[in-house]
Amino acid sequence: MGRVAVVTGGAQGLGASIARRLNRDGLRVVVADVNAAGATDLAQALGSEDVALGLELEVTSDASVQGLMAAVHAAYGRLDVLVNNAGILKRTPSTELSTDQWMRELDVNLGGTMRCSRAAFDLLRAGENPSIINLGSVGSTLGMPLRLAYSTAKSGMLGLTRTLAAEWGSFGIRVNAIAPGYIDTDLMRSGFGEGVLDEQEILNRTPLRRLGSPDEIANVASFLASSDASFVTGILLKADGGVTIDGDFRPRSTRD
Ligand SMILES: NC(=O)c1ccc[n+]([C@@H]2O[C@H](COP(=O)([O-])OP(=O)(O)OC[C@H]3O[C@@H](n4cnc5c(N)ncnc54)[C@H](O)[C@@H]3O)[C@@H](O)[C@H]2O)c1
Repeated sequence: MGRVAVVTGGAQGLGASIARRLNRDGLRVVVADVNAAGATDLAQALGSEDVALGLELEVTSDASVQGLMAAVHAAYGRLDVLVNNAGILKRTPSTELSTDQWMRELDVNLGGTMRCSRAAFDLLRAGENPSIINLGSVGSTLGMPLRLAYSTAKSGMLGLTRTLAAEWGSFGIRVNAIAPGYIDTDLMRSGFGEGVLDEQEILNRTPLRRLGSPDEIANVASFLASSDASFVTGILLKADGGVTIDGDFRPRSTRD
């Protein structure tokens, strides 16, 4: 049997694009999401249970995560790629951020990544070119007003990625992170509606002068999961059109 991947939060958005791409690459894909119906729908669209499986997952629950790995073991007997993509974001002034919201965002975005990685270890260490791919963010690099918990979690993702890469490298497990920039998805566009993101400002600050597409993130995940990346571990691979490296402060009227 060929390689097997789990994509958390795979029912929609970037996770769904990554699941589709890994499926096209020839991996068997497990779409795992708190939205069980969405996970099942995508799995069915990808093919039969032999090649794709949709499962319910709550990444903040140890039991749910362990159940996922047990189901993967029962269905395929192996796991080679874990994509920790499930994430949530709420935009709130930091002075109004409740402790419950802070804990929830840290737990889904960062705790979920820890839980899934920990539970996947035994299967991954027996896998072929085993790899964990974590979803970071612009918030892994820049301070993002109104997104204190999210940016803190996505910055913590770097420490988690480096630490697991260092600790599990001797087992052959590679651990990397992708930091998407502003990607044209519902999650990102909700910021336009809420008045906390301005599309033109983003384009002005992005050297490539456009938003990214979900497929451009899936391409990066495909690379990191592949044997082309067999000596790549512990990195944050930015796919952000340059938004986090832009140092162009010339008057706008003098630019191209
Ligand atoms: N869209 C962007 O521009 C962008 C940019 C940078 C980083 N990211 C990151 O990429 C990832 C995916 O983003 P997206 O835009 O596709 O988001 P999205 O909201 O469209 O999808 C997130 C998925 O995660 C699932 N999910 C949420 N909480 C869960 C939980 N507790 N357990 C299991 N599943 C859960 C949701 O049901 C959903 O299917 C996130 O980690 C996000 O932080 C997105």
